[in-house]
Amino acid sequence: MTKEQIKKKYKLKLKSLNKHNELYYDKSQPVITDAEYDVLKNEIIDLEKKYSFLRNKNLNNLQVGFRPSKSFEKYKHKVPMLSLSNAFKEEDLKNFEKKIINYLNEKIKIDYSVEPKIDGISASLTYINKKLKFGVSRGDGETGEIITENLKTIQDIPLEIKKDNFPKEIEIRGEVFIKKKDFLRIKDKFANPRNAASGSLRQKDPKETSKIPLKFIAYTFGFMSENKFKNQSDFLNELKSWGFLTSDYNKVIKSTDDLLIFHEQFEKKRFNLNYDIDGLVYKVNNLQLQKRLGFTSNAPRWAIAHKFSADHAYSEILNIDIQVGRTGALTPVAKVKPVNIGGVVVSNATLHNEDEIIRKDIRIGDTVKIERAGDVIPHVLEVDLKKRKKTQNKFIFPTICPSCGSKTEKEYNNITKKFDAVRRCTNDGYTCNKIAIEKIKHFISKDAMNIDGLGKKVVEKFWDLKFIKLPQDIYNLDYQKISSLDGWGSQSASNLKFSIENSKKVTLDKFIFSLGIRHIGIENAKLIADFTKNINIFLNFFKKDKIKEIINIDGIGETQVKSLEKFFQNKTNIKVVEKLSEILSIKDREVKSKGKLKNVSFMFTGKLQNISRAEAKSLIEENAGSIVSSVTNKLDYLVTGEKPTNRKVEQAKNLGIKILTQKEWSDLLN
Ligand code: IVH
Repeated sequence: MTKEQIKKKYKLKLKSLNKHNELYYDKSQPVITDAEYDVLKNEIIDLEKKYSFLRNKNLNNLQVGFRPSKSFEKYKHKVPMLSLSNAFKEEDLKNFEKKIINYLNEKIKIDYSVEPKIDGISASLTYINKKLKFGVSRGDGETGEIITENLKTIQDIPLEIKKDNFPKEIEIRGEVFIKKKDFLRIKDKFANPRNAASGSLRQKDPKETSKIPLKFIAYTFGFMSENKFKNQSDFLNELKSWGFLTSDYNKVIKSTDDLLIFHEQFEKKRFNLNYDIDGLVYKVNNLQLQKRLGFTSNAPRWAIAHKFSADHAYSEILNIDIQVGRTGALTPVAKVKPVNIGGVVVSNATLHNEDEIIRKDIRIGDTVKIERAGDVIPHVLEVDLKKRKKTQNKFIFPTICPSCGSKTEKEYNNITKKFDAVRRCTNDGYTCNKIAIEKIKHFISKDAMNIDGLGKKVVEKFWDLKFIKLPQDIYNLDYQKISSLDGWGSQSASNLKFSIENSKKVTLDKFIFSLGIRHIGIENAKLIADFTKNINIFLNFFKKDKIKEIINIDGIGETQVKSLEKFFQNKTNIKVVEKLSEILSIKDREVKSKGKLKNVSFMFTGKLQNISRAEAKSLIEENAGSIVSSVTNKLDYLVTGEKPTNRKVEQAKNLGIKILTQKEWSDLLN
């Protein structure tokens, strides 16, 4: 058979398998027996094994037959399931502790609960009156999917707790995973153990889940009706007594120096463990301190994942592609000869930016060392100069955008007095195709509109087919046409419609974030949403050119204001925002309705004692108050710490604003 014939045969089999998947998973109406299905699936896997050109084209095919069902019921976690920030080196860890001390503004010694970071899938188990009521996947962190019946097939998960001291209501969280030796038996069906766990957890039929020997290790809690624990380590011990499996390697360590020693020792023995781990998690052991530290938008301030060093391998650069990102950044990507790094086939490695290429003098044809750490994008570490041939020329970085031909530039940073390392396309709107596609991918992403049926690949396909050119086109798709596309069917088209319709209800902060304005991340989008409160005020703000007032928001600076101004100078952007605001149902920003500081605004000047500005701010917000960053007649209280700025105090006096000492402010809170 020729290569083309093999490809054709493979495609036909894949298409047939997808059809049977749809019949089985989405319609629950299989037309072939399980045995026939297995034959078909094995034929595909065999073809992929035999012909590597098929596998490289579509690695995910290794998961055939475990296409997740989209029809699980949704569940809003009572306490969000956030992720962890990462530390890779000593400096990251030291900075982590420094930030904690700064936030608490106290010189204290911190004990850490140290736990292996299991490389699986997290799940949350809600127990009410000692019985397991819901088992939920993490989802986007705020809303997961109810997979109780599947989780119940895991023997480590107790269905009922007998102990008297078990809280009336509690969300117990942990990791679902598969042991290395159990994975060996099914390794032909899945890319890696993590995939096996996630695929089998999302089966529609729990019988399918029960075929895979999954494990569950518990390590934290979400909501808990009564918390009598002083430390995370006490909670972990109690979990064991309640009948949950916890890690045998959990321990308490009392300094970052000892954490580093332990990490070095543990890294050596990680391969002896009977499950995959990709690092250690350090959590501030004292739960009271954890509470004070709280969370940033996607991770707790009181915990960090200290990753193990990455795997690496050598390969040859076949070409250097220039990718254009959502904000116009030109990112060079090395296309390398496919190479296996720690079980994953890598054929792309980022070169970061123009400066990095110049610094490392990376050229097409070079043999390079590539590093891959967990889920971080593989990157080129260094060039093996011994292997360089005389014929290899220096790489010339393009000075015009490879997508739209616009001029590119490196911005000058007035604060650092340096040019940016990143070169950018100067086209700021939807007329650069690559920027536009990336903007749409950002629009549908998890933290933005969260349209889970519309992945990045689908966006690219719909773009090529001219179905989507601007974000609003997503809400005007022709599902009839879509259902007749190769690889689609009426069920998948209607699933897509369902998830698009579902996304129409969105909160103001997520909507602002989804616009993909440079320098407006989730955290800033929340601040702007707090300030503008609803979509009409938001729109007026920008139409009436009141953008400069945004600078009054504590946390927003010149950079953000400039970026917003630039965004709203573009007519297409305005049209997109207006059109979307008509189509979507954008919820007003929920202002904390209860709290003793409702409608009261504060501003701080001078150094506070035993509390950082950040903590003071979150205390005010917890009590429904707000923080402003300038003295205007909108300010209610100016709180003065040590060495306040005289000008601010004078301005406040002139406007008749009440001035409080830190003690008076603290009394007001208590
Ligand atoms: S605590 C808010 N502890 O790591 C803190 N997570 O990158 C939530 N994980 O989604 C997590 N072992 O899937 C915690 N001992 C451990 C963990 C652990 C593995 C996973 C978990 C989480 C991810 C965060």
